[in-house]
Amino acid sequence: MSLDCSCKKILLNALTFLIVTAIAGAPPLEAKPRDKDRWDQKYSTEAYIFGKDPVPFLKQNVHLLPKGKALDIAIGEGRNGVYLATQGFDVVGLDISEKGLAKAHQLAKQNGVTIETQVVDLENHRLEKNAYDVILLMYYMQRDLWPQINDALKPGGMAIIETYNVDHLKHQKFNPKWLLKTNELLEAFKDMKIIRYQAYEDNDQAYSSIIVQKTE
Ligand SMILES: C[S@@+](CC[C@H](N)C(=O)[O-])C[C@H]1O[C@@H](n2cnc3c(N)ncnc32)[C@H](O)[C@@H]1O
Repeated sequence: MSLDCSCKKILLNALTFLIVTAIAGAPPLEAKPRDKDRWDQKYSTEAYIFGKDPVPFLKQNVHLLPKGKALDIAIGEGRNGVYLATQGFDVVGLDISEKGLAKAHQLAKQNGVTIETQVVDLENHRLEKNAYDVILLMYYMQRDLWPQINDALKPGGMAIIETYNVDHLKHQKFNPKWLLKTNELLEAFKDMKIIRYQAYEDNDQAYSSIIVQKTE
């Protein structure tokens, strides 16, 4: 059988595609399979790797937060979101790790409360606008999320944010791009009302924390 020139070309292209796909493997089914796998693996232990207690800054300032609906962004195993649920907030937690969320539900049960959760990749997710009285963002560094926080809060709503800052390098190796620069949170949230701020350092860690309020 003889094939004309264009037919040969189509067959050749199809063959090339099959070979490339076989070598490279199937295209990923989700945006960040490596993040998801990495975190699912970290959370695949009975122990709560970040503990079961909320971060001290949240506990110290919970009385300032307006009661209502709270969103815990990257809730992980739930130490902060579950604490808010015990304080009477309706909590929704987002995270890429199903294993983390399963542990968050388990922690909620241990505390006699319930929370809602959703598996999302925050790098491909938009926060619902005008929806929350409180937003928690604890130890999850994705700078392009910050501008969405004001929009996602209801008027009068507050966000509470904490993560490691550059001084943490004195205590531990860390990729500097995931660390807050000096006063970075103050600068990033300068259009909101700043209610509390601290740059904290002790013998083994350094982090910055802020509470901001949506004014209009
Ligand atoms: C350092 S942990 C902090 C967990 C929690 N906020 C806390 O303070 O205990 C970071 C969390 O971000 C989640 N995460 C990482 N990449 C993500 C992504 N692209 N979308 C959603 N969650 C993600 C991880 O699964 C993990 O639970």
